[in-house]
Amino acid sequence: MTRTVRAKAPAKVNLQLTVGPRRADGYHPLVTVFQALDLWEVVEATPRTDGRITLAVDVAAGSPIDASRVPLDETNLAWKAADLLARTFGIADGVDLRIVKGVPVAGGMAGGSADAAAALVACAEAWDTGATRGELTALAARLGADVPFSLHGHTAVGMGRGDELTPAMSHGEFHWVLATQRAGLSTPDVFAEYDRRIESGEQAVSDLDIDGPIMRALMAGDAVALGESLLNDLEGPALALMPRLEEVLDAAEAAEACGAIVSGSGPTVAALARSRQHALAIAAHLKASKTCDAVVTASGPATGTLLLDSQ
Ligand code: C5P
Repeated sequence: MTRTVRAKAPAKVNLQLTVGPRRADGYHPLVTVFQALDLWEVVEATPRTDGRITLAVDVAAGSPIDASRVPLDETNLAWKAADLLARTFGIADGVDLRIVKGVPVAGGMAGGSADAAAALVACAEAWDTGATRGELTALAARLGADVPFSLHGHTAVGMGRGDELTPAMSHGEFHWVLATQRAGLSTPDVFAEYDRRIESGEQAVSDLDIDGPIMRALMAGDAVALGESLLNDLEGPALALMPRLEEVLDAAEAAEACGAIVSGSGPTVAALARSRQHALAIAAHLKASKTCDAVVTASGPATGTLLLDSQ
């Protein structure tokens, strides 16, 4: 009998994103600190006997996300995840995938990577592959640099391309306000702008070290100290490609956020609050500032990818 398996995977924010010079393979060596946030991508997998993979996308109820920019073909990371898993485990069946989006599209919050992670977990169960966590993590790294963290969740340091993870200690809950833009930024474009700035001397290459103040603020559960320490080497390139983001950062500062930063390669701006209440106040201020297209609040660290109920 055919059954539908569901899995959910979290969004992420990079508390530190330190980028080294471009490698021969086109990737950049990173030192990054990820925190998973409780905004979720849900993927449903229903096996089909004809070997085909199909994909449909919906948006979580009440979410301002525009799903029209999500590709529905083999370029979608969830589709790629199902295909890679089937080839690896010799699965002849296909699958109907349905993504319910809760993470902004092309926003620098790893929504696509979350789709890949949730699709791996849902398909592994739906096809009864018996895949271990280690096997899924290895496949995740082949799908994209952020996909292993989408599986892992919580708080982690990422090295290499960002896919070599070490769990990091963190205390308590952090409250975030995420200001999103309807237009996305392409991650390769932002890295290319980073390369241009390094070549022209507009930006210096950072040392690839884990930031002590960030790790201490996480251990202490200190939002004020964490807000003051946030670091992102891709912020300058993202601001150059989308100057409007400067106004979002200014609006977050005016709302007395503990700190604000472009999330990953952007264009989402993540503002850190002292409390849930403070997050709601910052969210109201950012909405009124009209510097962004939508505002959502979220908390972290959240868990990694989880299997939900099966039907
Ligand atoms: O691994 P993923 O497909 O998510 O990466 C998207 C793009 O981001 C890469 O093609 C590359 O241009 C850039 N990237 C990078 N260095 C990293 C991670 C991503 O240059 N460590």
